[in-house]
Amino acid sequence: MTLKITWYGHACFLIEAGKTKLLTDPFITGNPLSPVQADEVEADYILVSHGHGDHLGDTLDIAARTGATVISNYEIQNWVVNQGFENVHPQHIGGGFDYPWGRVKLTIAQHGSALPDGTYGGNPCGFLFYIHGKKIYHACDTGLFYDMKLIGEEGIDLAILPIGDNFTMGPDDALRAVKLIEPTHVIPIHYNTFDVIKQDPHAWADKVKEETSAKVTVMKPGDVLEL
Ligand code: NI
Ligand code: MN
Repeated sequence: MTLKITWYGHACFLIEAGKTKLLTDPFITGNPLSPVQADEVEADYILVSHGHGDHLGDTLDIAARTGATVISNYEIQNWVVNQGFENVHPQHIGGGFDYPWGRVKLTIAQHGSALPDGTYGGNPCGFLFYIHGKKIYHACDTGLFYDMKLIGEEGIDLAILPIGDNFTMGPDDALRAVKLIEPTHVIPIHYNTFDVIKQDPHAWADKVKEETSAKVTVMKPGDVLEL
């Protein structure tokens, strides 16, 4: 089955697996590059990698409107439940769960995770999706870490990697990440949303093509990739 993957900018993707819509890190309101409005986004599941505002984003509003199940770590789930939501599924790092549409495992990420009100959000994570035979690693916000090699050992079809620098890996470390993971396909994210993370994704793509065998797709917000 072909997966339809739409980038809404920053770390936000809509992954459509058949009729199921998975939304990651829905930072839409306040994202100057978002191609959509929060009140027009559909989701059956919302996956939140950590508590920072540019990832938690519109999670609560979208969950309230759509009834989507929020998947995140235990600490963020507690916070979401305390905001009055019941439709949640807590997981934690290293743990996978088989949903009706496929499996997701939380990976480590080297980052922080305070929620907007200062509540402790546990450890931040990345997502490893196993959907209809495809493996997608969404690194979310992280610095480079050598265990990306372990993640790559699973045979990654698509790696989604931050290149913005300052808050996450920059272009040089993201290139090293590609070498550790050895994905078939890679998409750069988490750049140009703010001045402090300005990067040239095409220059990065050229380097990746020169130095690795990964196929790079530079998306514009709103673009769709079929996998
Ligand atoms: Ni962050
Ligand atoms: Mn971020």
